[in-house]
Amino acid sequence: MLDIQTSSAQPTATPHVTRREDYTAPDWLVPEIALDFALDPAATRVKATLHVQRSDAHDRPLRLDGAGQTLLSVSVDGVAVNDWTIEGETLVLPLTGSAHVVETEVEIAPERNTQLMGLYASGGNLCTQCEAEGFRRITYFPDRPDVLSRYQVRMTADKARYPVLLANGDPIAAGDLPDGRHWAEWRDPFPKPCYLFALVAGDLAVNRGSFTTMSGREVALGIWVRAADVPRTDHALAALKAAMAWDEQTYGREYDLDVFNIVAVDDFNFGAMENKGLNIFNSRYILADPDTATDYDYDGIAAVVAHEYFHNWSGNRVTCRDWFQLSLKEGFTVYRDQCFSADQGSAAVKRIEDVRGLRAAQFPEDAGPLAHPIRPDSYQEISNFYTATIYNKGAEIIRMLATMLGAQAFRAGTDLYFDRFDGTAATCEDFVASLEDASGTDLTQFRRWYSQAGTPRITASLLHHKGSGRAELVLAQNTPPTPGQTVKQPVVLPLRIKLFGADSAQPYAPEQTVLLTEAEHRIVFEDVRERPILSINRGFSAPAILETDRSAADLAFLAAQDDDPFARYEALQQLMLDTLVESAGGARVDHAAVIAAIGGTLANPQLDRAFVAEAVLLPSESFIGDQMAVVDPEAIFRARETLRRDIGRALEASWRAAYDGARATTTGYVYSPEAKGLRRLKSVALGYIAASGAADAGALAFAQFEAADNMTDRQSALTTLVAGDSAQRTPALDIFYNRYSDNALVLDKWFSVQAMAPRDDTGAVVAELAQHRDFTLSNPNRARALIGAFGVNQRAFNAADGSGYRFLADQLIALDRLNPQTAAKLIPPLGRWKRFDSNRAALMRAELERIVAVPGLSKDMAEQASRSLD
Ligand code: ARG
Ligand code: ZN
Repeated sequence: MLDIQTSSAQPTATPHVTRREDYTAPDWLVPEIALDFALDPAATRVKATLHVQRSDAHDRPLRLDGAGQTLLSVSVDGVAVNDWTIEGETLVLPLTGSAHVVETEVEIAPERNTQLMGLYASGGNLCTQCEAEGFRRITYFPDRPDVLSRYQVRMTADKARYPVLLANGDPIAAGDLPDGRHWAEWRDPFPKPCYLFALVAGDLAVNRGSFTTMSGREVALGIWVRAADVPRTDHALAALKAAMAWDEQTYGREYDLDVFNIVAVDDFNFGAMENKGLNIFNSRYILADPDTATDYDYDGIAAVVAHEYFHNWSGNRVTCRDWFQLSLKEGFTVYRDQCFSADQGSAAVKRIEDVRGLRAAQFPEDAGPLAHPIRPDSYQEISNFYTATIYNKGAEIIRMLATMLGAQAFRAGTDLYFDRFDGTAATCEDFVASLEDASGTDLTQFRRWYSQAGTPRITASLLHHKGSGRAELVLAQNTPPTPGQTVKQPVVLPLRIKLFGADSAQPYAPEQTVLLTEAEHRIVFEDVRERPILSINRGFSAPAILETDRSAADLAFLAAQDDDPFARYEALQQLMLDTLVESAGGARVDHAAVIAAIGGTLANPQLDRAFVAEAVLLPSESFIGDQMAVVDPEAIFRARETLRRDIGRALEASWRAAYDGARATTTGYVYSPEAKGLRRLKSVALGYIAASGAADAGALAFAQFEAADNMTDRQSALTTLVAGDSAQRTPALDIFYNRYSDNALVLDKWFSVQAMAPRDDTGAVVAELAQHRDFTLSNPNRARALIGAFGVNQRAFNAADGSGYRFLADQLIALDRLNPQTAAKLIPPLGRWKRFDSNRAALMRAELERIVAVPGLSKDMAEQASRSLD
């Protein structure tokens, strides 16, 4: 045995930067690979047989990426060799011919893998995560997405401990060995990049289903979980079947293997992973029953199951040439899953939720130190680019293309794209060119969306000359500078627009889509007799920040009259936002207009309850902060709480009526759009009743908490109780803890409800919870439930004494030693320092500097923390 222990790379003074423009095609291809795993948590042996081919006439050696494994042997064409070298962690092997068979054997230790990248142990089972660069932690291989191989995988393991052995593709053979071990072989006929490799070995039970594809093929579906969790997998299985049918109907995409398996694991760095034929999920996106999962959880499960399934075409059959093209698969697939979810329930509410998510995560990213285009130009650590920009802004860019081309031409474009690039590793440019060719639309300027970072700001003002009956809409766009990109060019902004008459409330003309392509644009409307009111960016057709000169009265008009649900929601939000920003800035503000608009929305029987519940929610504290020159977290909190109280008081009778009405119409838990809407409205109403200061609010919430037959009602009651100071507060937290102490996903809720609480003592409570016996940084869900939730609690995190900053930095330094990827994701709250007063800014910077100075800091954290200082 050759004893070469390679160590993890340490960040150096000059970190290695990978640049998009440096892309070169691979020197060696690997059309076939066979892997043989002798699985053991402490020491797994991996034999890899690579059929390598020189890509063209060059004399460069074969370079195989590796990380953290022990190399045991290398052979070429069946003969052991020792003329290889290790450069950094890359195995460099000189080869003479144009095709060879290279075999390596390595040893790895899954149970010591706390990064959860590569092969690792979770809950007694073994599983893998390879995207983006985890495969190199399993075996030596060209770990880049443009090297596509056919995989054959053999696994051997102890049968009692790991009775189930799964890998990509179809099972081809299995058998028992005399020593209590067994083996299984799987073969995936579709060439794939190594980031889509997966295996699972474990003690798992299965919920089986089947799906008949559009061409009549039978696919065996399986959702694999702990035996006790099988009853919680029906929702995920139903969502999978719905997604398979939807992709056939909407995009003409059929599933291509005979087997589709999903495995749920408790320790996972993000939501889920689309490995070919073997998706691996964070258990929070699989497991649901009414007692333990909220409606929000159910929706998330359907969306993520669909997302990963959709990747089979947008990601797997057509993959990415390099990681700079990540949005090619992620932006497109998020767009696909958003449309799927919209088709399953209320499209209007789904759009509102998506935009709220974009504004909560992506707009701040685009306005802060970590801003990057949806197709970045460089990175140090690719894991840091699985961002809201790549995913959610990426989805908005695809949505704009769909809007501009229209459904038919868009579909023709995606058909052409799948046709042209099936079985290959493509680029964002390939996608845009396919849409362009299929539709005949020139997308030259549109391509700027791929290279330019930052959220465009649009100003719109509408001038009306009563005498001539002319109205003129003046539109201007401007994208503020972002780090490394000071000069911005105008982008293409499709704006869905409609004008309403102020008196008649009738529209002047049908909605039109205006393409704003220049810095400034004027549109003239003739024959406008009544004063017109502008409804703009309907459906949030362009991912921009809009500034208009619409008065509070006009916003109230639109909140009551607009026939586009998003525009109606937006008008009410803008009215609230203007009020809150003014009052946080110190002005004495009258709340009457907001109260009247909310009252009108609540009282409108035409509106879907789910829409009403979304529409009457106040903007978040951090979104209010994003509108201010200097964020004043205390003033924002006070302004928002005061407005909540006033809305609660002035409309108390309506809230009680809405609450009682929703309660009366929900008997027994049903997961349907209507029932979800009623539960949502009930929880919003309860929140306002409590905000009013009503004496019975604690009792009301506690009664709901106790009587609930589902987690949506129970958690919303708990959230209300935890925010207040009623006698029922502590008992409810204790009851909740005791009732669910054996369910990790529900305990996560117990932690995060407290971390998000709008209370004076939240910082102290969170610091105490970090010492709780159920708290651990080793489980990413738990770490996010406490540390992540606290970081987005604007007021608690930004305590003036800096205690929140210090706490987060301490936790991130500790977490970075275990799991750099998950730690680096939690940095952004500290990177907002420019948005705060100089005291807070200095305290935040000091914590970032402290993090950067930690010896042995991961590449992930080093990149994010140092960028956050700029
Ligand atoms: N491709 C996965 C998805 O469906 C996520 C992979 C995330 N990888 C990472 N290194 N953060 O979105
Ligand atoms: Zn994805």
